[in-house]
Amino acid sequence: MKERADEKIIRKYLAPFVGDIKIETVDIIDSTNDEMKRRAERGEGELSLLVAEEQTKGRGTKGRSFFSPDGTGIYMSLLLRPAYTPEECTLLTTMAAVSSARAIERVVGVKPQIKWVNDIYLDGKKVGGILTQAHLSKDCRDVLWAVVGIGINISEPEGGFPDELRSIAASLGKNDGSIKNRLIGEIVNEFVLYYRKLTEKEFIAEYSQRLLGLGEEITVSAGGEEYSGTVIGIDGMCRLKIRLPDGEERVLGSAF
Ligand code: BTN
Repeated sequence: MKERADEKIIRKYLAPFVGDIKIETVDIIDSTNDEMKRRAERGEGELSLLVAEEQTKGRGTKGRSFFSPDGTGIYMSLLLRPAYTPEECTLLTTMAAVSSARAIERVVGVKPQIKWVNDIYLDGKKVGGILTQAHLSKDCRDVLWAVVGIGINISEPEGGFPDELRSIAASLGKNDGSIKNRLIGEIVNEFVLYYRKLTEKEFIAEYSQRLLGLGEEITVSAGGEEYSGTVIGIDGMCRLKIRLPDGEERVLGSAF
């Protein structure tokens, strides 16, 4: 029996410090991020969580889709009205990645890594990802709202992943249906704790420990330029540090 997301059970796992949070679970939706963006535009307030059993248009970064079949994953979005600067809010994605990895480790007992900037990996395959979308004020000084979307493959869908994902995607391998609500609760706990003290950037040390691909050679295309270099870590804003063959160091940032 697959466990379905249930508001009351999720609440049981929330820490008292999370406080007032709106939670809604739905069976099917186009995308929890799209729905939260619509709700944000209609005025929905800070700290609202939407969880779906299935998404028909699950979104990934760079315009990609996120495979979101019924009942085998967590597809959730948190709506925030951050009192932080847009630059500080670029940390929401990396914060959510660390929160998810920590929660998975606590609940499932495995140790996920993070592929910069937003992918959660287990044994060399992607088990989840984060998509943050935000709306800035006209003068670009304030973040009017941000939606942090988290997708995690809990079990393999019947018949396995589609051909195009088979070599790169995996799941937490939990078919007993007993972890979904606890995992959602723990992700929220971890995230809220970091979010309330975002400017302290407490999670960055842990992001660094979980970073995948340290020492690897990568090629970057940015600003009409292409260059190759070695990944040497992240900086204090969770930007990827790359050392070029001539010793020059560059940082690669990510917007929303
Ligand atoms: C990625 O892998 O590039 C990011 C994936 C983010 C997927 C989550 S699932 C819940 C939320 N709703 C979406 O449409 N996407 C995010």
